[in-house]
Amino acid sequence: MARSRLERLAIVSDVHGNLPALRAVVEDLERVKPDRVIVNGDMVNRGPEGSAVLETIDALGWEMTLGNHDDLLRMWTERDPSLPSSWFSDPFWRSTGWCAHEVASAGWLPRIETLPRTVEIREAGADTIIVSHGSPRHYREGYGKHLSDEAISEIVQMHPYDVLIGSHTHIPMQRAWGKHVVLNSGAVGSPFNGDPRAQYLVVTQKDGVWVPEFRRVAYDREAAFEAYEATGYLEQAGLSAWLYRLELATARSLLVPYMMWAETEGMTLDEVGWRAFVADRSLHLTAPDEAGASIVARREAIGVA
Ligand SMILES: [Fe+2]
Ligand SMILES: [Fe+2]
Repeated sequence: MARSRLERLAIVSDVHGNLPALRAVVEDLERVKPDRVIVNGDMVNRGPEGSAVLETIDALGWEMTLGNHDDLLRMWTERDPSLPSSWFSDPFWRSTGWCAHEVASAGWLPRIETLPRTVEIREAGADTIIVSHGSPRHYREGYGKHLSDEAISEIVQMHPYDVLIGSHTHIPMQRAWGKHVVLNSGAVGSPFNGDPRAQYLVVTQKDGVWVPEFRRVAYDREAAFEAYEATGYLEQAGLSAWLYRLELATARSLLVPYMMWAETEGMTLDEVGWRAFVADRSLHLTAPDEAGASIVARREAIGVA
C-alpha cells in the first residue's frame, strides 16, 4: 500500500518544557516512522525549556494543538482579566510568570495564538479520528477514569467520531464507549502514572481500524533536573517550580491536589501550607528510580521532610 496514505499517526503531548524528554521521543519516532505527528498541547509551562521545545517541534514541521498551559502563558502575558488578579503578585504563581516571560521573549506567543483546539482526521476507508488536548468541548476536560459516563456520552454525541484522542491528564488510557474508542496519549514531559519515562501514543491503521500502541521511552532525567537549575528557574520561581520538579521525580500529580486541598482547608500556597498538606495526606514522596534519588535527598529544602 502506498505510504502517501496516512497509516501511522503519533500523538505526542504534554512536553511541558522538558527538552530531554522530547529529544528521546524524537529519537524513538525515527524508528516508529509515523506518517504524521501531532503534538497535542501543553508544550510549555511547568518545565523551564518551553521555547527550546517549541523550536524543536517547529523545526521538525510537526503540527500542534492548543493546551491549557500554552493558553495560560498567553493569558498571563496579556494580563487576561479571566485570570485572578491576585495571581500576578502571589509568589506561588511566580513559576508561571517565569515560563510566560521565557516563551514570550523568544517570540512564540503569536504562534500559540494560531494553534487549533482540535484536529480532525478522515482517511478514505478508515475510522474517523478527532484529536484535542482535553475533549473537543474543553481543553481541560481530559479523558480519564474520573470522567463520568454521562460526560463521555455527551462528548460522543456532540462529536461522533470513531476514535477520540486526548491528553491533559498525563495518564495514558483506553476506553470503549459503544462503538467509539476513547484514548489518552499520556504525557512526554511529566507523566502522573508512576512511570517516569516519556510516554506517547501511536495509532496504526489496519483494515480501516486504528490500533493503539502506548509507548514509553527512557530518557536522561538528570539532564531534565539539571535544566531546572542551569536556567535559574528553580531559584527564581519558588515553591511551584520545586513542586513541578518533584512531580517529575515521582511521576505523580502533586501540585493540583495540593491546590484543591488548600482551597478546601483554607490553607496557604506556601511552604507552610505544603508541609501541612504532606502531613495531612501522609505522603511518602519517593522517586520511582535512581534518577529521581537526588530530589528525594533534597526533600528538606522544599519543605517535604
Ligand atoms: Fe499537561
Ligand atoms: Fe493540560
